[in-house]
Amino acid sequence: MNNLKLLLLDCSPRRDNSTSRHFTRHLLPAMAKRFGRDIQINRRDLGAEPLPPITAEYAESLVLPIAEAKARFGSALALSDQLIQELDDADMLWISAPVHNFTVPAVLKNWIDLVVRRDVTFKTTEHGKVGLLRDRPTFVAVTSGGAMFREPSLQPDFFRPYLNAALGVIGLKDITFMHATGLASADEPLSIVETKAGQWLREASFGQTIPSIV
Ligand SMILES: Cc1cc2nc3c(=O)[nH]c(=O)nc-3n(C[C@H](O)[C@H](O)[C@H](O)COP(=O)(O)O)c2cc1C
Repeated sequence: MNNLKLLLLDCSPRRDNSTSRHFTRHLLPAMAKRFGRDIQINRRDLGAEPLPPITAEYAESLVLPIAEAKARFGSALALSDQLIQELDDADMLWISAPVHNFTVPAVLKNWIDLVVRRDVTFKTTEHGKVGLLRDRPTFVAVTSGGAMFREPSLQPDFFRPYLNAALGVIGLKDITFMHATGLASADEPLSIVETKAGQWLREASFGQTIPSIV
């Protein structure tokens, strides 16, 4: 049986002490074991190697029909084409990210700006935008310093609604969020993260579409 291909996006600018990277280190291998198939990980370390910001040519191309965009701005679309191919090749997507100012880190926003493309990953219809990528299980391991994702909320959550909308528009709707929060006040944030990972492993669903690809 073929390996499951997983695209991993690491989004923290921090390395060894990164809480989100640590969270993923504790969640991903354990979840992968449960899928019952070997996992082949394609890792994009957006935190360590940020993508370049979008260019004027890329932004111009987005308002043109796809054939004209390719003819006029082909080389300016190369990175976007590559990122979309990486995503489309993957059976699963895993995003490892901290909360930055109530939402996703800028490096992840930049990746999104490069993969959300009219007539390539979504199309516009009279009923709104429709995703063109097949849905696939998407896991988001997110950490925060303060009290995010709680009821009653102490901070506005633009992280989950934003990712649901931005990934949803290209067709990724089966999204599972796992979070470890309140880490700024912890003496040992990495050990809190390990405990939280254990809790999520007991509780997390595998997403709706895992059975069809396992
Ligand atoms: C630029 C920046 C903005 C942040 N904004 C928030 C925020 O809005 N809410 C919050 O709870 N924590 C915020 N934090 C704290 C991080 O979410 C927290 O330190 C997290 O554990 C960092 O994960 P990492 O170690 O993987 O980078 C912010 C941190 C940075 C660097």
